[in-house]
Amino acid sequence: MKILILGAKGSLGQTFVDLYSDHEVSAWDRQELDITDENLAHDHITELAPKLIINCAGYNNVDQAEDEREAADSINGYAVGFIARAADEIGAILVSYSTGQVFDGGNASGYNEDDETRPVNAYGKSKLLGEMELQEKAEKYYLIRTCWLYGQPAAGKKSFTDIMLDLAAGHQPINAVTDEFGKPTFVVDLAQATRALIEERKPFGIYHLTNSGVASRYDWAKEIFAIKKMKVNLQAMDASFFERKAKRPKYEVLNNTKFIELRPWTEALKEYLNT
Ligand SMILES: NC(=O)c1ccc[n+]([C@@H]2O[C@H](COP(=O)([O-])OP(=O)(O)OC[C@H]3O[C@@H](n4cnc5c(N)ncnc54)[C@H](OP(=O)(O)O)[C@@H]3O)[C@@H](O)[C@H]2O)c1
Repeated sequence: MKILILGAKGSLGQTFVDLYSDHEVSAWDRQELDITDENLAHDHITELAPKLIINCAGYNNVDQAEDEREAADSINGYAVGFIARAADEIGAILVSYSTGQVFDGGNASGYNEDDETRPVNAYGKSKLLGEMELQEKAEKYYLIRTCWLYGQPAAGKKSFTDIMLDLAAGHQPINAVTDEFGKPTFVVDLAQATRALIEERKPFGIYHLTNSGVASRYDWAKEIFAIKKMKVNLQAMDASFFERKAKRPKYEVLNNTKFIELRPWTEALKEYLNT
């Protein structure tokens, strides 16, 4: 099958390039196609005519998005609509990723796929714009919300897992937040679950795919150091201790009610850190 992966140099994008090595894959990042250029996106995508498009491109700097709303809306929002229109024209299936930050995060029991969205920051608003563009312009789509990704790092960008390991190497105390919660998710598990969703021909629509189990950043850091058997001075802090531009949802907890549950986050983390 002819597959197009967008954002192919990112953490999730690279993982898909490896996962689909048994298919005819075109791996495009910003250099091959700037997805915010509507005409270019239309012409390049319709000319290639893939059967499946996996959009892993994104603007992911949550704090910077507060000052760069236009850039965030353009990449996470309108560009998704450009890709969706082209996908629809050629009859391709389109997969695109969103975030738990489209919800306000006030509900400790988490959010189901059809719960009401209400983002609390510019990043969440830009991703919600992309969700609306996708649903309006594409017919055959999987809109996958996910959370706290880590895996092979993209150039110049490190995930929380790798940042913690770097900090630990500096032998300084490390502060981590105890009162915000999410689901740390290994990009390999996310990519495999996405492929399964497509191959099982699940109905098009919204899915929540994350590793299972809930953690704070403090829990996540503690588990990293336990797996790596590192002695680290890890300090538990309230979120209010950190000065950050963007507000964060307290419970970025996505409930998966429509597809198979992914393995616990601790198991996935162990595999990532031990291989
Ligand atoms: N990371 C997370 O914790 C997280 C959580 C929830 C959802 N998501 C979503 O999951 C998806 C994959 O995330 P990720 O962590 O793999 O992202 P990533 O590592 O930041 O990769 C994104 C890729 O998209 C590229 N890109 C950005 N703007 C582009 C443009 N205008 N045209 C073409 N390519 C462009 C980036 O290139 P540059 O490096 O040049 O910008 C980068 O290679 C994204 O949709 C993201 O929003 C991520």
